[in-house]
Amino acid sequence: MRLSKQPTAGDEERLIVKNQPLALQAPPTSITMRQVRPTDSDRLRSNCWPNRTFLTVYNLITRTVRNTADGRGLGLVVVGADDTPLAYGQFTLWPTCAEISDLVVTESLRGQGVGTALIQALVKRARLDGAKAFEIGVAMDNPRAAALYRRLGFEDSHTLMMDLERGKEKILFLRLEAPRSR
Ligand SMILES: CC(C)(COP(=O)(O)OP(=O)(O)OC[C@H]1O[C@@H](n2cnc3c(N)ncnc32)[C@H](O)[C@@H]1OP(=O)(O)O)[C@@H](O)C(=O)NCCC(=O)NCCS
Repeated sequence: MRLSKQPTAGDEERLIVKNQPLALQAPPTSITMRQVRPTDSDRLRSNCWPNRTFLTVYNLITRTVRNTADGRGLGLVVVGADDTPLAYGQFTLWPTCAEISDLVVTESLRGQGVGTALIQALVKRARLDGAKAFEIGVAMDNPRAAALYRRLGFEDSHTLMMDLERGKEKILFLRLEAPRSR
């Protein structure tokens, strides 16, 4: 499972916009992404969520695909050379923000900028759909993910008690506002 990491013209372009939070910058074109499809569920489960059941993953993906058809969100997969899904993330449009969620990168690809690129791509697509603010939730026992979101420009906003997968737990929500001028 490898991704091309050759720098491209798109990567150079990204460096020009230096003052923006990283999350608002364009993702590198060297990382290939496309919209998720229900037929990705099985390989997403085995590559990214080995502890989830097929049905849990399938339900998540089909709900997101339905949301996309209704103009209420989008799911993106990062794919390898053979179109295998290696990472996933989605956003849902709410009246007050686009909520980015369910981010996951296959274990062997972590720490190489794939999660960053996915967030940049989701933010870009959500802005095209009219979103002006972005929120992302993270469990309190996942400080590495929280640190990544803060580095991308998200700021701690509020906490909620939620049952995501492991029973009720405290979830920290981080928020990023896009500049008003756009
Ligand atoms: C959280 C997660 C999605 C982040 O994805 P990722 O691809 O590892 O993220 P990135 O590579 O963009 O950034 C993470 C780290 O890689 C480093 N990094 C970024 N670009 C890099 C590059 N080109 N080369 C090497 N390292 C890089 C970052 O400095 C960061 O390091 P740190 O966390 O040690 O400070 C991924 O770790 C994951 O799937 N975790 C399990 C599921 C999970 O926790 N999901 C989040 C739920 S809120």
